[in-house]
Amino acid sequence: MIDKARTLPADQVFLDLEDACAPLAKPAARKTIVAALNEGGWEGKTRVVRVNDLTTEWTYRDVVEVVEGAGANLDCIMLPKVQTADQIAWLDLTLTQIEKTMGYEVGKIGIEAQIENAKGLVEVDAIATASPRIETIIFGPADFMASINMKSLVVGEQPPGYDVGDAYHYILMRILMAARATDVQAIDGPYLQIKDVDGFRRVAGRSAALGFDGKWVLHPGQLDAANESYSPNQGDYDHAENILDAYDWFTSEAGGKRGAAMLGDEMIDEASRKMALVISAKGRAAGM
Ligand code: GLV
Ligand code: MG
Repeated sequence: MIDKARTLPADQVFLDLEDACAPLAKPAARKTIVAALNEGGWEGKTRVVRVNDLTTEWTYRDVVEVVEGAGANLDCIMLPKVQTADQIAWLDLTLTQIEKTMGYEVGKIGIEAQIENAKGLVEVDAIATASPRIETIIFGPADFMASINMKSLVVGEQPPGYDVGDAYHYILMRILMAARATDVQAIDGPYLQIKDVDGFRRVAGRSAALGFDGKWVLHPGQLDAANESYSPNQGDYDHAENILDAYDWFTSEAGGKRGAAMLGDEMIDEASRKMALVISAKGRAAGM
């Protein structure tokens, strides 16, 4: 899986010490992960390790062993089931200690925080601002559904019996607001039915529409759907570029230095430019 991951068109890869790793396998997994990071081959990908959450006895050893062993080849630590800003402060201080000991640049390693229960969601604003290292807030739907007793076994899909809207809307928006207010990324979590790519697209389409920056994939088969869901379609991208061109013209000397103008049947102004910039930036990042 590690060898395969190096070859895939993913923006980020995270190597897991938490729930995908059985308790007795954790000490050996730390060593495998350090070796995989130091062997390299991850060019163009953000390299992340998910450690165990701070209610377990494993977290400090995960962080010390991985960052001492491979900190030079690691971009972020992902902390799951974050419940308070204090937990982020602990990780920030621990990373600073290791960076100083190892002679790495202080602040080099970022933090990705997973929101996976009610306490974490209620504290999400404080969590997002707890350290300048925070780069990403991630929704963990499987643990979240379990923690609030949602009556469903299919992660990301609506709970049976709830037919009046999207049961995830509030949670996604709460996370998105905390992320945008702090200017960090908002990432949607996994879709477990790995053969159901249409299902993945349906669920990804919802968080992408709200403004989320991306979603986990558990299997290479989900990758194209993820990359497509969080990039604009060609029509929207072209329209955004047209708006930007038109705006440049009518605000220039030649265009009369106007504040607003018509583009076909649509009035465009400074706010339209900002909306167009969002789509165009995503499209350009995707190489459109
Ligand atoms: C991911 O960690 C999840 O619980 O959904
Ligand atoms: Mg989880």
